[in-house]
Amino acid sequence: MCGITGYTGSARALPVIMEALHRLEYRGYDSAGVAVEGKDGFFLKKVKGKIDDLDAALDGVEIEGTTGIGHTRWATHGEPSQKNAHPHFSIDRNIMLVHNGIIENHDRLRDRLPEDIEFTSETDTEVLVHLLSENYDGDLTEAVRFTLGEVEGSFAVAVVHRDEPGRIVAARSGSPLIIGCGGEGNYVASDLPALLDFTNEVIFLDEDEIATIDSDSITVQTIDGEERKKSVNSISWDAVQAQKGGYKHFMLKEIAEQPQVLRQSMRGRLDSEAGIVKFPNLELDDSIFKRIEKINLIACGTSYHACMVARYWLEEMTDLHVEVDIGSEYRYRSLNYEADREMLVTVSQSGETADTLAALRKVSRLDVPVLSICNVLGSTMAREADDVLYTHAGPEIGVASTKSFTTQLLVLFLFSYYLGRLRGSFEGDRELLEALEQIPDQVDQQIRDREIYQKIAAEQFKKEDFLFLGRHLNYPVAMEGALKLKEISYIHAEGYPAGEMKHGPIALIDEEIPVVVLGPHSRVYNKMLSNIEEVKARGGIVLGVCMEDDKQGIAEMCDYLMPVPDTEELLTPFLTTPPMQILSYELAVRRGCDVDQPRNLAKSVTVE
Ligand code: G6P
Repeated sequence: MCGITGYTGSARALPVIMEALHRLEYRGYDSAGVAVEGKDGFFLKKVKGKIDDLDAALDGVEIEGTTGIGHTRWATHGEPSQKNAHPHFSIDRNIMLVHNGIIENHDRLRDRLPEDIEFTSETDTEVLVHLLSENYDGDLTEAVRFTLGEVEGSFAVAVVHRDEPGRIVAARSGSPLIIGCGGEGNYVASDLPALLDFTNEVIFLDEDEIATIDSDSITVQTIDGEERKKSVNSISWDAVQAQKGGYKHFMLKEIAEQPQVLRQSMRGRLDSEAGIVKFPNLELDDSIFKRIEKINLIACGTSYHACMVARYWLEEMTDLHVEVDIGSEYRYRSLNYEADREMLVTVSQSGETADTLAALRKVSRLDVPVLSICNVLGSTMAREADDVLYTHAGPEIGVASTKSFTTQLLVLFLFSYYLGRLRGSFEGDRELLEALEQIPDQVDQQIRDREIYQKIAAEQFKKEDFLFLGRHLNYPVAMEGALKLKEISYIHAEGYPAGEMKHGPIALIDEEIPVVVLGPHSRVYNKMLSNIEEVKARGGIVLGVCMEDDKQGIAEMCDYLMPVPDTEELLTPFLTTPPMQILSYELAVRRGCDVDQPRNLAKSVTVE
């Protein structure tokens, strides 16, 4: 949802900003731009297209300036075009500004400007830069503070002024912003991967904070002008982790990383010999987990599917009532919370998704305990929740979530197990934990052989509709499979609880429609078998996901077989998920789609 970055220091700014923009491109990629201090004012370059297009437009450009800002855009107001690309600038071109988020009252703010100001773009952002220019009186930080006080909406901005060389003023309210402190200067960016090439030392800006960033100093204050002391955090992720490492796409690399990140995420959290799960860093008091009667799981997109799987685990291992909802729906519901009997768990890879964050804030205000499960260290949800469990998936760059999903599943499974034992509703099960420890190796074995997926892709890539069917724990995996496919291949796909097929989707089935059926050994195996018979009877093409040693019928009824190693029923989602990911990946590649940066999508949706 737009990436912003800035640098001020002793090195040339342009290469630093371009490097950072490449790392932020997953946040938006319809247009991009940079502004760098020059001898006679700012050098400005904007293009429609991706960062590579901006690179091409900058070919041969040598700018000595050591301070600048950059932006990669995901359009909300105004089509993707050069004129709508950031940075936006004041009429005298003394101020350059990049923005992530939405200015909701931009029309009203516009009325405050002199009538003769001619706007050059269709964006909500441009009004900000003109207001800044009107409010500037020799102190950029003050001008930003005053101007943002009038803004409604969500934003992160970085601004430079010609009269204050070597300085970037950055502020956030509703959109993430991180400051990097390094040997060669200081940095600002929407997300960590942009900074890791340069520094591991970062400051997380909090809501309504403004930073004045010079090459050798950083000061932070609130929008009300109160000075803030900020701590510098050392981040253990490195830049290498955030690169493609020889893989054709980030998505493929991230699928392949799953065994390693699952092991990483398990580390220190399970003791299979003793049959126990522990969370050494969890600070929420156990008495909360014991006293609650209901747990509410809220998320968006893929993370929502992880919550749907977790509902079955929580119901199986605890005596809790479980509610699962989508952030954008939940935030507008009239909730009848009982603060001392409920808790909220938000699940989010980025920890920044606007709708999930709104749900978190709504519930926090009611004094309900909130736990956040997320991947990005220091993200807004991690900081605003009462406590956080990290998934430890490392940076995920491909827009389609893969390793984030499986590590979310892992943490949710462990959390369900932990709660069950704590509440005395589940004794624990050593065999189950031993089987869980096998999962990373099994995923490893599973993702090595992509031949069957390439065959399916070669024979089915022209199809325009797919149906995904699953039941019980594998119903959300079917939903996730359909989401993955539509996200990256633009094939229309629907995920359905298989039992509902007869109430509608069965009408779609003919010789043209591939039906992906999730049928690992489970309590609903025979029901899935019946569904497959119904599909076959209507000529549908069955792509079965079933166990390697399937002897009970599903395997032999399938037109294509995507094998799953044997495991405990409760753990099957860990092994039915990789086939969903690889199938989508191969189909998308075969269709020539941009796998890592699918059209219209963004990795992190920080606006409503
Ligand atoms: C976007 C991404 C999805 C992701 C969803 C929720 O739509 O493209 O991959 O699942 O946001 O993101 P979160 O960071 O909250 O998990």
